[in-house]
Order: sequence, then C-alpha cells, then structure tokens
Amino acid sequence: MPHEHGHHGHTGAFDGLDDETAAFARHWDEVLDRVADSAGEPSTAIDLGTGTGVAAIGLARRLPASRVLAVDAQDTWFGILRKRAERAGVGDRVRTVVADIDDGIPLPAGSAGLVFASNCLHHVGDAGAVLRRTRDVATDDALLCVVEVARPMRVLADDDPAAPAERRAAEALGTRLREVMPLHSGPWARLVGENGWEVVDVHEFVTAADPTSDDAAERHALRHLGRLAAASADRLAAADAASLADAVERARRAVRAVSWHVDGSRIAVLARPARTADTR
Ligand SMILES: C[S@@+](CC[C@H](N)C(=O)[O-])C[C@H]1O[C@@H](n2cnc3c(N)ncnc32)[C@H](O)[C@@H]1O
Repeated sequence: MPHEHGHHGHTGAFDGLDDETAAFARHWDEVLDRVADSAGEPSTAIDLGTGTGVAAIGLARRLPASRVLAVDAQDTWFGILRKRAERAGVGDRVRTVVADIDDGIPLPAGSAGLVFASNCLHHVGDAGAVLRRTRDVATDDALLCVVEVARPMRVLADDDPAAPAERRAAEALGTRLREVMPLHSGPWARLVGENGWEVVDVHEFVTAADPTSDDAAERHALRHLGRLAAASADRLAAADAASLADAVERARRAVRAVSWHVDGSRIAVLARPARTADTR
C-alpha cells in the first residue's frame, strides 16, 4: 500500500492523476517550455510533489545537462514514472525519492539550480516554510517555478442542463477547500515573494481538453463531475445533486450526450532568489 499522506484527508484524491496529466498535455508543454527557456543549464533540478513525474521527465528531456530529483510523499506513481523516464531516454538522469517536504527537502544546501512545484504546495502543512526551505537548497542563481490552480476547473458548457448545478457545486467545493486548504487558489505570487524569492514572472495558463475526442480527457471530466457531486453533496440542493448525477449518467451512456467545455486555469509563478537571505 502506498503511504497515505494525511495532512488534508486527501486520501485517494490522486487516483486519476495520470488522466489529468494526459488530458492537459498541452498545458504541460507550455509550462515546461517556459521554465526550460529561463532555467539556463542547472546541474540539479528538483520536482516537488512529482506525482506521475510529468514535469520531472519533461524537464529532464528539455535540460540535457540536468539531473532531476523527483520527490513525493507517496511512491504511488514511481514505478510508472521510472518506466516512462527510461522510455524517454532520461532514466539515467531522473531519480525518485520518497520524502515529505514538510519535514525537509532531500538536497544539500545551495545545490538546486531549478526548483519546480506544480499543484503541490497547497497540500503541504506550511507552504511558507517549504518555500524558505527551497531557497536554502537552491543555488544563488536558481529558478523557482510554482504552478497552482488559479480558477477551479469547470467541465460543462453553459448550454448543458447541469451547468448551473456545476457552478454552484464548484462554489461550494471552493469554500470547503479553502477551509481545509487555505492556500487553495491562494495568493501564490505574494507567498513566494515573502519567503526568500523575488518574483520575476507570473503567467496564467488555460487548461483545456476535449472529452469527446480524447479518452483521458473523457475519464478526467467524468471523474471530476463525480467528485464534485460527492464532495459538495451536503452543501448542495437536492435538485442540483440530481442534475449533476444526471450529467454523469448521460456522459456514461454517451460522451456526446453532455455539452462539454473543459476550462481551468493555472498560474505559474517564476522567481529568483531574493538578494538578501531575509527579505523582511
Ligand atoms: C495534485 S498532485 C500534483 C502532481 C504533479 N506535480 C502534477 O502537477 O501533476 C500533488 C502531489 O503532491 C504530493 N504531496 C503532497 N504533499 C506532499 C508533501 N508534504 N511532501 C511531498 N509530496 C507531497 C502528493 O503525494 C501528490 O503526488
């Protein structure tokens, strides 16, 4: 059994991460190209909360002089990650490590030329402390990239009968997530800037996918709707719950029976080490 990371009762939330990664392949290419363009040639890069390793492998491919440390509190995806790294021809430069980054980052001080963290920092116990720790392990000319959700994903188009229910469920879920994870969709640029880094670029990426032409996107959108319904059930009017259940049913019968518009948005904050170790 993989180690369940328990900070937020997020058990099982990362099932389907692989579909999400595949569905948003274009988003990943955009982010990783941008990061690789600014990263120079770091000898060591680290991907925090690597999940399926899409960034660790993508960065290793784009930065042929770099070794990439792929860190996660759970080793759930490490078998697949290593196989994919081999297949991509970067197996010798991507290393997986199980570590809880709330306890420490498994690198010597001043050694990482690139620190990457996608959709990970809102899960940790103390994101500010983790950011300060990333500064400690970074070289003085390092690049930090933090990618986080800027706007909760919606998957139904406005003309779908269940769209109003989805909107209300997303609002209810957003409120709940902020209760347990105050930094979900949080002020990332400010947080990065307050914890040892100087923000040099903030870029918003749209995450879009088409469930009618892409199996991974179809599974991801369906899973998203099912989860949204379950997670917001106790805060949702019965009619909205029924409407969402109906959308899931329609989609299961025929993907085209739903009017899709998968639309989310992520923010990428790029930063360099602040000039003084203690910025405030
Ligand atoms: C939503 S997934 C994101 C995975 C990947 N970075 C991506 O963007 O697709 C969050 C990942 O962060 C990991 N994670 C959460 N808290 C962590 C911690 N304290 N230390 C290390 N990894 C953690 C989870 O195990 C999970 O794999």
